[in-house]
Amino acid sequence: MSKTSTLLAGLTGAALVAAHGHVSHIVVNGVSYENYDPTSYFYQPNPPTVIGWATTQQDNGFVEPNNVGTSDIICHRSGAPGGGHATVAAGDKISIVWDPEWPESHIGPVIDYLAACDGDCESVSKESLKFFKIDGAGYDKTAGRWAADALRANGNSWLVQIPSDLKAGNYVLRHEIIALHGGGSPNGTQAYPQCINLRVTGSGSALPAGVPGPSLYTASDAGILFNPYVPSPNYPVPGPALIAGAASSIAQSKSVATATASATVPGGGGANPNPTPASSTPAAGTPVPGTTLRTSTSTAAAQTTPPPTGGSSAQTKYGQCGGSGWAGPTACAAGSSCTVLNDWYAQCV
Ligand SMILES: *[C@@H]1O[C@H](CO)[C@@H](O)[C@H](O)[C@H]1NC(C)=O
Repeated sequence: MSKTSTLLAGLTGAALVAAHGHVSHIVVNGVSYENYDPTSYFYQPNPPTVIGWATTQQDNGFVEPNNVGTSDIICHRSGAPGGGHATVAAGDKISIVWDPEWPESHIGPVIDYLAACDGDCESVSKESLKFFKIDGAGYDKTAGRWAADALRANGNSWLVQIPSDLKAGNYVLRHEIIALHGGGSPNGTQAYPQCINLRVTGSGSALPAGVPGPSLYTASDAGILFNPYVPSPNYPVPGPALIAGAASSIAQSKSVATATASATVPGGGGANPNPTPASSTPAAGTPVPGTTLRTSTSTAAAQTTPPPTGGSSAQTKYGQCGGSGWAGPTACAAGSSCTVLNDWYAQCV
């Protein structure tokens, strides 16, 4: 008996360190947008321009508690703004999909924040972002499961609702799973923040106050240093309080994508750059400058601006133009110049 327990404990221990993840895409009203893939884009000479922030966590890794007071907690390790955004309406529900399958062992809360960008999120300084919490689910005593379990049960996806009264503008959505399997020990919890640029439309006026990313948590917060292996845990979700009127989570369901769209780059859009088809059999969408739209059932090529080409041609505004290991273009399109954001990422802004 005790031998079996010891063996199981050993196997569990091995599994605990093995697996991690990242957000592969989001789905908004049936349209799928690719996110930044840290496991492959980092190595590509000219990765796609996406709505998700670039990071240097090629291991699908995490930010540890000893670093929650640093800029790495804002939008993951060495996070740098995504080159484009998706447009959503206030009140829309967004499905955030993780890859690979979220490990069963990585129990913990799922939390979502928004922060308004002063101008384009594509060129925002992450230190200037002030995050307010729009949902935050921990342990559901009625269901007897953690939010991360609910995410797994929902096809590795989490449904987030943009507050319906939110003021129109550009926002960074900071979606995060916090894995507590090692949380009983100091520096043992794992934070997996993922940042995505959104342009929110609507006629609301709410703009809640927020806090800078490095002020969200401390290593000794009750919801960070926490042993989850107790019956029906009384878990306090860490971070600031939910904004007025917000629920810890909305009812979860999966979203089916019927079309894909690429990120809209700043300055490329008209009044409403959202290419979302209204019906379930989407027509070839309305071309929008800077936007590529194709239905999932057709092989239609890009309709408008092609992605930046490699080689000697200049990188488009908001595209990557440098950083450790970068083999793509280093010159920037007219009207932008190559700006070093960190050792791993320089961007045409
Ligand atoms: C904290 O955790 C990280 C990730 O596991 C590790 O790399 C680092 O060495 C730890 N720091 C301390 C002081 O234990």
